[in-house]
Amino acid sequence: MEYPFMKQCQFYEEIDSTNSAAKALARTGAPEGFVVYADRQTAGRGRLGKSFHSPKGGLYCSVILRPKLRACDMMALTAAIAVAVHRALLRFGICTQMKWVNDLFLGGRKICGILCEGQFSGDMPEFVIAGIGINLTPDPSLPTELRPIVTDILTETGVFIPREALLDAVLSCLNDVLIELPKRSFLEEYTRNSATIGHIVRVSQGEREFVAQAIGYAEDAGLIIRHADGSEEVLRSGTAVPL
Ligand code: BTN
Repeated sequence: MEYPFMKQCQFYEEIDSTNSAAKALARTGAPEGFVVYADRQTAGRGRLGKSFHSPKGGLYCSVILRPKLRACDMMALTAAIAVAVHRALLRFGICTQMKWVNDLFLGGRKICGILCEGQFSGDMPEFVIAGIGINLTPDPSLPTELRPIVTDILTETGVFIPREALLDAVLSCLNDVLIELPKRSFLEEYTRNSATIGHIVRVSQGEREFVAQAIGYAEDAGLIIRHADGSEEVLRSGTAVPL
């Protein structure tokens, strides 16, 4: 099966959030595969209500999906999209590490974030917006507090990737990974290139905070951790920051 990516798309020099625009389009019936992308965002959103710094020169894109999934598959979908971006960058000779659940890293700092937002009817999504933000070039205005944790592809690798070339590669890899989604075969690649598995992580789930060892992924891409007392738990929310 081929997903009809990029048959229809909208490009903006500047937009508040490509996810917001794609969501509005999906609500009025825009088809699966419709892509909204931009050169910069003024109100880029991340997971857990965080903002996503989106200066000029990045790839900020949102793809409308109408997948036959259930709510419990959303975490696996986010991990699958991370693998699609990882594979797309491999085509340019760049090997990223994926941090659970939605970040890609180079040299220990973030170069990409993924935000999946769904509108559900009962347990089934009417649509999912797959939002992907990739830092392609250095940002002279990067806030000081983000410098230790955020970087870009050109700085880390010396490779300049034109935005449209990367978008094409991401959509092609997204097509492949969505086909693999029911079998979960992408999880092996997600594990092998993980910035999380094997590490001691600081877990934050609202008020709950603790340190544990990240040991693997469950079938739904939940993070399996081992506590100091040897007991194991699967995390399906929150963050796990490698120490
Ligand atoms: C995160 O880091 O928690 C996820 C960041 C996702 C950012 C992308 S950029 C394109 C799309 N539009 C948004 O407002 N967010 C996503």
